[in-house]
Parts: sequence; C-alpha cells; structure tokens
Amino acid sequence: MSETRHPHPSEVTPESIYVNRRTFIKRASLAGIGGSLVAGGVWARQKNAPRVEGTFDDDLTPWETVTGYNNFYEFGTGKSDPKKNAQDFRTDPWAVEVTGEVREKRTFPLEELIDGLTIEERIYRMRCVEGWSMVIPWNGFMLKDLIERLGPTEDANYIEFTTLLDRQQMPGQNSPILPWPYVEALRMDEAMHPLTILATGVYGKDLPPQNGAPIRLVVPWKYGFKGAKSIVKIRFTKRQPRTTWNEAIPREYGFYANVNPDVDHPRWSQATERRLGEFFRRDTLMFNGYGEVASLYEGMDLRKYY
Ligand code: MTE
Repeated sequence: MSETRHPHPSEVTPESIYVNRRTFIKRASLAGIGGSLVAGGVWARQKNAPRVEGTFDDDLTPWETVTGYNNFYEFGTGKSDPKKNAQDFRTDPWAVEVTGEVREKRTFPLEELIDGLTIEERIYRMRCVEGWSMVIPWNGFMLKDLIERLGPTEDANYIEFTTLLDRQQMPGQNSPILPWPYVEALRMDEAMHPLTILATGVYGKDLPPQNGAPIRLVVPWKYGFKGAKSIVKIRFTKRQPRTTWNEAIPREYGFYANVNPDVDHPRWSQATERRLGEFFRRDTLMFNGYGEVASLYEGMDLRKYY
C-alpha cells in the first residue's frame, strides 16, 4: 500500500475501450440498467438485484478498472498483479467458519450461509487510503441480516473477518510483507449499520477472484483496506481483535480507518483524492460522503481513534 505513483486507468486499459465503456456505462446507469450490463455467466443470485438506498449517481468506474486495478497482496503488491495471478483461484466449493460469541458456531458451505438473504445492487464510493477512489456497483446483502441469522451472544462487541490462508494458491503469502492471514474487524454497531454489506458480485456478475471472490466485506465510509476479501472465517469477539494493517504498521493504520479528510496519514494528506478516470483531484468528504454514520462515533476523538 505504500506505492506512491498510481497509473491512470488509460495505462491499464487501452483508451478507446476505456472511453467507450465509460460513456456506455454512464448512459446505461442513467437508464437504470447498470447492473445488468455485463453479459456472461451470471450467477442466478446476482441477477436483477434491485438497487437500493445508499447509492450515488456519480459515474461508475469502468469494469476494466474495477477488476484490473486492485489491492490483494495475497496475489502480489502491484495493482495489476491480482488480475494476472488470481485467475485460477478456486472459489467453489467454499466454506465459512462461524465462531466465537455466537449461537450458530459451525462451518457453513457458502451457499447455505447466505441462502435466502436478499442480494441488492449498491453503488458505493470507495476511497483507498492511498488517495484514489472509485464508484463501484456491488452486489451484496446487508451484513446485519446475516448477523441476525447467526445470533451473536451478549458478549459479542466486535466481528472479525479472516481471508483464506493458502500459500499454494496465494503466492504473496510466501513473503512476509504482511502478517498472514489477512484479518479485518468492525465494532458490532458498525457491522449492523445498513450500509455495511458482504458482496458476492460486482456489475451484476459474480466477483472476479481479484475483487475478493466468492465473498468480501464492503464498508463504504472506511478506507478500502477494511474490506477483507475471500472470507473463510467470521468470529464474534468480546475484545477488539487485532487487524492486519494495524498490526503491521500501527502508526499509519488504525482500527477504525474512517475516511476523514482532516486526519492525515503520517506520510501524506487525506484531504483530496483522485477518482480513477478523472484528471483533477476532488475533495475527500467526511466519512466518504456517508454522513449518516456520524452518530456511530459521537463523543469519540477521531484523531485518536483513526
Ligand atoms: N483483502 C485481502 N485479503 N488482501 C488485501 O491485500 N487489500 C485491501 C482490501 N481487502 C486487501 C484486502 C485494500 S488496501 C483495498 S483498497 C481493497 O481491498 C481493494 O478492493 P478492490 O481491489 O476490490 O477494489
């Protein structure tokens, strides 16, 4: 995450495709059909997902950028590495262990875990701690719905998400760039917020491996690193769990990681961002524009709890 130069999307995608797609997607999304654009093997559950509140009408970031410019250190640290190196990643069958302070403690086949939950399309602004942003049409369900199904105990104050550990499939795990496996966590009230989703798709298709297939966390008011990918374990805890980036570089990455233009990263300002595909930087908004979450942090010093 310490890279300072970020390629323009036109360096990742030939410009003609990039420009055309952008125009096409913009028109299509204005017509309200953005989620059904991409042809191909659409998983039944991503199909016709209704679009709901919490969405923006900013231009969507093109598919090529969303799926070609990624952070997924298990598959390499370069932005184009995950797309290249994750293509053979096996995501079916997939199981998720549920453990800790919870009634339903066991390992679920993914299909069973999420069976019957409502998949919606959520167009979210995503802001990376590195200073770039995208607008992504996720397909996912409210984490709240899953939590209610699983039944956490009264002692559950936090929820932790762990990514698969598999050194054979994930070559990046053979080097000590991060403590593996990747772990992220939320306070329970953050997890229960209706904006917090677990995503299984993007642009109406199943998640590509590089975006965290088959299931990943999406929390739009936090920096992107909170969005743990390819989740194999969900643990409810009493105490605040250790999280990967906080453990790796505590001075730079806190537990909360709320998007906050007033609290700089120790090595760079967080006041502005570059929306991939745009030339000029834009102002970064408090909570990434999702001001409705402010009440979660009332009375907290957000400089201390960054
Ligand atoms: N999850 C895992 N397991 N490994 C990672 O390296 N990177 C994080 C987050 N989730 C990461 C991860 C960071 S820094 C970002 S910005 C987002 O994934 C990027 O998600 P995207 O590639 O789908 O846009």
